[in-house]
Amino acid sequence: MTRRSVIAGTGSALPARRVSNAELAQSVDTSDEWIVERTGIRFRHIAGPDETTGTLATDAAKAAIASAGIAAENIDLIVLATATPDQTFPATATRVQAALGIDDCVAFDVAAVCSGFLYALHVADSMLSSGAANRALVIGAETFSRILDWEDRATCVLFGDGAGAVVLEAREGEAGILASRLHADGRHNELLYVDGGPSTTGTVGKLRMRGREVFRHAVTNLSAVMRETLDMAGLSSGDVDWVVPHQANARILDATARKLELEGERVIVTVDQHANTSAASVPLALDVAVRDGRIQRGNILVLEAMGGGFTWGAAVVRY
Ligand SMILES: CC(C)(COP(=O)(O)OP(=O)(O)OC[C@H]1O[C@@H](n2cnc3c(N)ncnc32)[C@H](O)[C@@H]1OP(=O)(O)O)[C@@H](O)C(=O)NCCC(=O)NCCS
Repeated sequence: MTRRSVIAGTGSALPARRVSNAELAQSVDTSDEWIVERTGIRFRHIAGPDETTGTLATDAAKAAIASAGIAAENIDLIVLATATPDQTFPATATRVQAALGIDDCVAFDVAAVCSGFLYALHVADSMLSSGAANRALVIGAETFSRILDWEDRATCVLFGDGAGAVVLEAREGEAGILASRLHADGRHNELLYVDGGPSTTGTVGKLRMRGREVFRHAVTNLSAVMRETLDMAGLSSGDVDWVVPHQANARILDATARKLELEGERVIVTVDQHANTSAASVPLALDVAVRDGRIQRGNILVLEAMGGGFTWGAAVVRY
């Protein structure tokens, strides 16, 4: 029997404040009509002063642990994907560990922006498969509202805050992560980046993006990596029950699904409710669809994401 990483539980958390396009249009030169037509986004949640990447991650982790039916002290690995950590160091994963009351485990952050959750999942899966860990919390959590330039209407309307988490458990059997593949191409730094950092400007910086170029790369890279992981798993797009994509833009989701000849009904869409929550978006969408009953045990899932760097990746999972 093969030792695989099974998704034993899922959880998510959103800031209390939900902001509609119309509310945003009161302070930004934009309109509900423009945002919906270009992106499919209707709402986003924005963190208040007491809500941070760490608190949202902790709430999502608690929900995932509860749904897995385990005790927090059984977790021996925490991998947290974020581009908006609470502090430059230590890793936000260690804050989550402390908040969960776990005395000893491995805990670190992964930075791959919007594909961070796929990177974190791959690392955790490798550690579980090798026997280096047995039960992992894999979290994507972000407060992008803190790095947005609220004067730049081309970017500030696109993002939201939130967190999603899964408990991964090493088990022998047919269920679990069947294939996972990551990519990066650092030549495209200037298309999507933050114009600050501790080692350069000494500031946190703001998000900058050339949206049109990002769009083009996203559709090409995502459809290619989805095909690649399905091939690795010995499956085809016809075997896929649900695609759980990074929620950047409804038009990217449609274009990518079309390239793979996947009907839109098999794509989980939450971008209308949450906007782009970067590393949080895949586990957040997964948790929504598990809790509303669409995703069932035994289903074949494809998770995929692309983000700044560029970095991108996909994973095929028998849930
Ligand atoms: C950002 C995005 C929605 C913009 O759509 P677009 O069709 O490319 O639009 P453009 O940037 O070319 O701008 C078109 C016009 O809309 C205007 N515009 C931009 N943002 C606007 C807003 N929020 N409200 C109203 N008008 C806006 C622009 O100023 C421009 O006006 P002009 O023609 O008078 O110069 C689109 O490029 C996109 O989704 N890109 C991918 C981004 C992404 O997903 N990034 C994250 C990946 S992890």
